[in-house]
Amino acid sequence: MPSRGKGAAGPRRFLITSALPYANGDIHLGHLVEAVQTDIYARFQKLRGNEVVYVCADDTHGTPIELSALKQGISPEELIARTWENHVRDYAAYSIGFDIFYSTNSPENRAYAERIYAGLRERGLVVEKEIEQYYDEEEQRFLPDRFIKGTCPRCGADDQYGDVCESCGATYNPTELTNPRSVVSGKTPVLRKSTHLFVQLARCEDFLRNYIAGRNVLADDMRNFVSRWIEDGLREWCISRDGPYFGFPIPGTENKFFYVWLDAPIGYLSSTAKWCGDNGRDVLDFWGADAPGELVHFIGKDIVYFHALFWPVMLDAAGFKLPSRMFVHGFLTVQDEKMSKTRGTFILAREYALRVKHPQACEYLRFYYGAKLTNNAGDIGFNIDEFCNRINTVLINNIGNLHHRTFVFIDRYFDGMVPDASWDASIAAEVENAAGRIARHFENGEYRAAIEKIHALGSRGNKYYQDTKPWELVKSDRERAAEVMVTCANLIRSLAVFLKPVVPNLVAALERQYGAAFAWDDYRFSLRGAKTGKTEKLVRPIAEEDFADLLGGAAAEPVGKQDAGPRTRGDDMISSDDFSKVDLRIGTIERAEAVQGSDKLVRLEVNDGEGGRQLVAGIGKHYDGDSLAGKQVVFVANLKPARLMGVLSQGMVLAAQHGAGLSLLAPDGTVDPGAKVS
Ligand code: MSP
Ligand code: ZN
Repeated sequence: MPSRGKGAAGPRRFLITSALPYANGDIHLGHLVEAVQTDIYARFQKLRGNEVVYVCADDTHGTPIELSALKQGISPEELIARTWENHVRDYAAYSIGFDIFYSTNSPENRAYAERIYAGLRERGLVVEKEIEQYYDEEEQRFLPDRFIKGTCPRCGADDQYGDVCESCGATYNPTELTNPRSVVSGKTPVLRKSTHLFVQLARCEDFLRNYIAGRNVLADDMRNFVSRWIEDGLREWCISRDGPYFGFPIPGTENKFFYVWLDAPIGYLSSTAKWCGDNGRDVLDFWGADAPGELVHFIGKDIVYFHALFWPVMLDAAGFKLPSRMFVHGFLTVQDEKMSKTRGTFILAREYALRVKHPQACEYLRFYYGAKLTNNAGDIGFNIDEFCNRINTVLINNIGNLHHRTFVFIDRYFDGMVPDASWDASIAAEVENAAGRIARHFENGEYRAAIEKIHALGSRGNKYYQDTKPWELVKSDRERAAEVMVTCANLIRSLAVFLKPVVPNLVAALERQYGAAFAWDDYRFSLRGAKTGKTEKLVRPIAEEDFADLLGGAAAEPVGKQDAGPRTRGDDMISSDDFSKVDLRIGTIERAEAVQGSDKLVRLEVNDGEGGRQLVAGIGKHYDGDSLAGKQVVFVANLKPARLMGVLSQGMVLAAQHGAGLSLLAPDGTVDPGAKVS
């Protein structure tokens, strides 16, 4: 990888991609690991003054998408159009700054798929072979993996798909299933011969060996993996599927379509072409075999095979540029486990944005992921306590604190003006020194190391503030106090520059205050005698309660549903007006009896000071009728009457929960029935 910085050689050119999410599901926190990782890289390169185009698209073809459309009773086109809208909205909530988010179901993608296929044929890499496949005679179609279900040949679990058993994880061919049946018609399929197209990957062994070993395309862990695949021998790759299939027809065949994984990565190229068309550029500036730029992919470890082996062969066959670099990340775990729908830890991007009760929740997720991401494919954990800890330690108590104390001081003693004084040269030198290292960390995908360095600089700033005691200096040596403020104001700007790829919205508040959009070189101390804008509160602490609605099965419920968890913050606060709508009164229980057919409900006749009323309370497991007569209680007097097990209740009795127990609320000493509680 070229290490040219800016300067003599001019800006570098980047084409950067995230893997294309499938168009049959919503964006979840796992997808966001990758999107955030890529976006930080793209923003970093832009900040450095380089030319960057960040492309992504929906991956729209193939059987699962066709199947989901079928289930929803809509066409695949309709499904992918809806999903596209959702994906765009979800990514936007996390400030993922694609230059284009396109679709693989596009005319450009079809044209490039045909072109690459032609290249593969010209190289003599494509062969035809006859294979046996299941066929549904009623529906008159071949059945791809996901259109067949049956009994797992390994563990005997029923109702498993044709390619993988969700019970034991075995993978197999559909023909190995016992009791196969068609998902479409439910009938038992028959075996039929069909001709398919295969790419002979083994013939590209030398090319791939050179490609993988010869450049720094992959980090060490992944390079070793891929090299082993090559040495173990490469299998032929089937690139065709029988129609009907939601995808592109293969030229020169009858009713054959490109397998989704052929046209999926081509989506990177065709989305770039679309962007170039819209922006008056030439796609070969980015994808030409000799184009000077860098082509950088971000992918998960599950799709390395496609990207490191098939994809370079396809690009090479059609004379395009090969990827310069692939950053491979691991999988997201939630509270130390694999994301799981049944455990309520499968979190959608949209649900996180709605349910975490903090206005900066999405921006903080970017920071949290950034603070954990490295250049290797280890898994990434999402843990709520760790999340709060990281945010509060670094953003709130460190950087936010330095910002707050500095500008409160400047506003108070220097009239909102960064004074005209010199800065502390040793701190300026430390920043200079750190800048190079931070840049290298971002460049290498070592965001965790970059953020640790930024954190350390923030601590340095706070210690400097603490040690120099400007609040004393301002009385004894105003010039020195001014120097401290100039130093801190410059340091804060440096920190903001370094953090800008990670938390762009938070930094935008600082840009407003400093009155300029930051470029990388603004980390250098240069500010003195400058008026700054209003000091905005940058960050607000986040607490575990803010996540109360996020986990534990909540994810299975429709978004927006209110549950009974503790609600004490933000949007959930009520005004005293709201509270005063509730008419609470004291009543004296005159009679109590169990509601027939219920062991929980008790019918109470209550003296409410106004002629009496009947209340039904769910206290039967904790109180028996006899012990209740004569007790005073607090009840809601203006609740709409309701029937519980057919018995009218004209209000609600209040009780406190303690563990599994229940305790009725009562006044501290006898009061008149009907007395108002406020
Ligand atoms: N459509 C293919 C990619 C085609 S690229 C030419 C695909 N789609 S996906 O929606 O399943 O995944 C998209 C990306 O998100 C992949 O890089 C995948 O590794 C990543 N992730 C999906 N689930 C993930 C986690 N739980 N954790 C981290 N990344 C995850 O694969
Ligand atoms: Zn099984």
